[in-house]
Amino acid sequence: MAEVVIVENAAAAGELVAAEIVELIDRRADAVLGLATGSTPLPVYQALRTRLAGRDVSQVRGFALDEYVGLDPAHAESYRSVITRDVVEPLGLDPRRIHVPNGAAETIQHAGDDYETAIEVAGGVDLQILGIGTDGHIGFNEPGSSFASRTRVKTLTEQTREDNARFFDSIDDVPRHCITQGLGTILRARHLVLLAFGEGKAQAVADAVEGPLAAILPGSAIQLHPHATVVVDEAAASRLKLADYYRYTFANKPAWQGI
Ligand code: GLP
Repeated sequence: MAEVVIVENAAAAGELVAAEIVELIDRRADAVLGLATGSTPLPVYQALRTRLAGRDVSQVRGFALDEYVGLDPAHAESYRSVITRDVVEPLGLDPRRIHVPNGAAETIQHAGDDYETAIEVAGGVDLQILGIGTDGHIGFNEPGSSFASRTRVKTLTEQTREDNARFFDSIDDVPRHCITQGLGTILRARHLVLLAFGEGKAQAVADAVEGPLAAILPGSAIQLHPHATVVVDEAAASRLKLADYYRYTFANKPAWQGI
């Protein structure tokens, strides 16, 4: 099962995960990070600003989870722009080493395979940061996604389009299609770190961690991973049946183990 760490707030989660990432980069200068968009991972990127300051990050590589199809990469809400703004620029990463799936309509037929190849050539993702949608999606793997899926085009649910409308002028501007790493792609990363904050994510977290393995609960795919860490605040943990056990386990965790 995933290791669940219940922290006081999002800032504490950011520090915990950032510390793990810094340790990884210290071990391996060309570490491959799996980058997520959305508001959830922002405290991690924020904490990394301070923790990575003065360190050489020129070799660090990264792969984003997903991208909208048909949205100009220069659009402020394309995930290429978001990753550049939230991660590449503030952390001083080399933009040539940071990949985002190509959502251009003209090349979309082979964009998924191209992305899979690029991840493979890089030797796979060392640590994959994940958020979770209110409908349980990870990346943009909407309910029904195969656990074996690879990077491909998906149709966004209306719920996801409504959730993401806040980033656009109107819901009509939210694309209907995306290209996303598959659940099978995500499961090949060596360490998964899923973060979630707030009551609105409590059910999705409970389904992912304790729910049955089911394609209708895409987050439940993390139960198949040998090293998955779920970092949540009290509100997001509020529907976990085994919350007390997770608290006890973390409090008694050997110091050498990390997350
Ligand atoms: C978006 C992204 C996901 C993200 C999720 C939650 O649609 N494709 O990668 O995890 O929705 O977003 P937020 O963290 O803003 O709640």
